[in-house]
Amino acid sequence: MSETRRKIDIFDTTLRDGEQSPGVNLGVREKLEIARQLATLGVDIIEAGFPVTSEGDAEAVRRIAGEIRGVTVCALARAVEKDMTIALECLKKAPRRRLHVFLATSEIHRKYKLRKAKDEIERIAVWAVKYAKKRIGEVEFSPEDASRTERDFLFRIIEKTIQAGATVINIPDTVGYTTPGEFRDLIEAIHDNVPNIRKAVVSVHCHDDLGLSVANSLAAVLGGARQVECTVNGVGERAGNAAMEEIVMAMDTRKDLYRFRTGIRKSAICETSRLVSKLTGMVVQPNKAIVGKNAFAHESGIHQHGVLAKRATYEIIRPQDVGFGESQLVLGKHSGRHAFANSARKLGYRLSKKDLDESFERFKRLSDKKKEVYEDDLRVVVESVELEDVKKEYELKFLKVVSETSKAPLAEIRLDRRGRTLSASGTGDGPVDAAYKTLDRLLGFKLKLLDYTIRSVTVGKDALGEVTVWVRSASGAEARGRFASTDVIEASVRAYLDAVNKIHFKRSKDKLPTV
Ligand code: KIV
Ligand code: ZN
Repeated sequence: MSETRRKIDIFDTTLRDGEQSPGVNLGVREKLEIARQLATLGVDIIEAGFPVTSEGDAEAVRRIAGEIRGVTVCALARAVEKDMTIALECLKKAPRRRLHVFLATSEIHRKYKLRKAKDEIERIAVWAVKYAKKRIGEVEFSPEDASRTERDFLFRIIEKTIQAGATVINIPDTVGYTTPGEFRDLIEAIHDNVPNIRKAVVSVHCHDDLGLSVANSLAAVLGGARQVECTVNGVGERAGNAAMEEIVMAMDTRKDLYRFRTGIRKSAICETSRLVSKLTGMVVQPNKAIVGKNAFAHESGIHQHGVLAKRATYEIIRPQDVGFGESQLVLGKHSGRHAFANSARKLGYRLSKKDLDESFERFKRLSDKKKEVYEDDLRVVVESVELEDVKKEYELKFLKVVSETSKAPLAEIRLDRRGRTLSASGTGDGPVDAAYKTLDRLLGFKLKLLDYTIRSVTVGKDALGEVTVWVRSASGAEARGRFASTDVIEASVRAYLDAVNKIHFKRSKDKLPTV
């Protein structure tokens, strides 16, 4: 089917406005890596930097202009000769290049920052665009703080800069002040009041100070904008810029409303987001739309059941479409049996109804203690149930280990052996040693501990510690025991008992005397 939707150009300014995020400082190599990824992603224009600001920025623009193909490379300049000369020199090697010139037009900027009257601003803007136009084909002009500029003055500046040769007119909401209705109205008014507006592409550039940058950009598209300036993950000055992935996916998901397309390869979105996050050091919040860790994670049992029955019940985007991988049913205390069984099946476990019931019960108990249950937690839960087919000779009824600085740890243990209670206490070199020595006393025999390993099977402070022991009895019988718990001393004791019970089980099956 041929694509009939008209195209919106995606102008990526991650390397320029995004790099203006407090604390972000990208080197030339990192900028090149991001630029390469942006080209793969399919952006139309890369704003590679603001060359006059530093030699590093200038060099990055030069390298990107020299090496990245298939996109337009753009550089930013104030409406002053020095800025424009350096930017033009840096862009030289790009087969497709654009100079982006800006000058503030709002009253507050004119009065306090530039100390210039309207006429002078108009004169400089026209001069700068003409200067640029003689030296490069594509000139974008931005009346900075356009959304707070008097409309009649804004219309005049736009008309004059188009006359001077600007091919793109960008309308920045520099301080993130506008709202969707107002911004759409402004873009429509520009189309209605600037006589030569059709000779230029109208672009928008929104900041997120009120959390409205994406909504404002989308409203502007409905008002006639055909280029959107944005950044990956919404990085940028202060609260950031409009997030590219959100704009792209909003237009794609709501084709019915936007009727426009972008050239973005959706499947490269997550990879790009991760790269930008890694290189800028700006962590993506878990609940960030499209690329956040939780963007496709369902925790509530009702939602999980719905997604398993029909994905679209609770998912408006297929995670695979944006390169996210599969949607995740995050197991937690809200998860139901469906999600649990599904996850266990995916991990390769074929559980009987009885084992499933018991595993699910244990999982519920664990998820009361742990916020998120990871894949490895699940394995441990399921395997601990499977191992239970081994008949238990000894069962742990009570465990207390007290450990104090400069005192030998004291263990107190109670076991049940076929209805009989055995209890003892004792000390040792450490809490595990105290527990094991006490266990030996209780059992009435000593096992040789051939190996003891402990590892964290999951991540986080509330991770499960899994203890594996390998023991040998005096008669030479060997067994491995394993147990996982958020309490590693308990895991150690239960793993030991697990091994003891296995030895017993084997012996009783073989009709041999016990240990
Ligand atoms: O926010 C802004 O106004 C800018 C301009 C340079 C376009 O970043
Ligand atoms: Zn900006």
